[in-house]
Amino acid sequence: MVNLSDKEFSTMKKPIIAPSVLGADFSNFAAAVADIDAAGAEWVHLDVMDGQFVPNLTFGPKLVADLRSQSAAVFDVHLMVERPENLIEGFAKAGADAITFHVEAAVHSHRILRAIQTLGKKAGISIVPSTPVSYIEALLPFADIVLVMTVDPGFGGQELIPECLEKIPILAALREKRGFHFLISVDGGINESTAAMVRDAGADVLITGSCFFNAPDKARLVGHLKGCAD
Ligand code: DX5
Ligand code: ZN
Repeated sequence: MVNLSDKEFSTMKKPIIAPSVLGADFSNFAAAVADIDAAGAEWVHLDVMDGQFVPNLTFGPKLVADLRSQSAAVFDVHLMVERPENLIEGFAKAGADAITFHVEAAVHSHRILRAIQTLGKKAGISIVPSTPVSYIEALLPFADIVLVMTVDPGFGGQELIPECLEKIPILAALREKRGFHFLISVDGGINESTAAMVRDAGADVLITGSCFFNAPDKARLVGHLKGCAD
């Protein structure tokens, strides 16, 4: 398991690449995680959906537990569920390194962030396209990750909504001005043609599902998404 120091966690320069297994072949998650490791991506993004908060259903903590011994990558769990407080302990025990939930699915978001950190994990808050940064401003001092959705959550393979990128410089400016430490993670529609504008907007973490798992050369794609390759 990766024990990132707070400094390492928040001062990485090139964007972290976090392929989402939602884009993988669900009959072979072990192969998907092996592909992520082999391609040099740092995080495994695990999209948890309950069919309530989003109109899709994926998997629970057991998948994380079964994959944990397969990879030392950061397991980045994205809870797209109602009442996320009911699931954080299960995913923490299963071996998640970071657990992110949606502010739209919780009343007591501050309490949930602190509960995730008390379990020894990095805590993230996520906003859907219709939620402005102002809605989570009071939570920014406590968050390790802010996940900006650039598609409506629930499915991979959608077009990135460019207007959502306007939230990133707002978050970066607030972080700078008030000395916060959160990473800005961006999720949805990130591929070879949209990655540059996501990086230029100031994202620290690029999540990519369909583009990664459809790529013939995954290592080259990771280099391209980081802005290293041509
Ligand atoms: C969508 C998920 C995303 C999705 C990204 O609800 O949160 O992580 O898997 O997939 P792409 O990169 O195909 O948009
Ligand atoms: Zn996601």
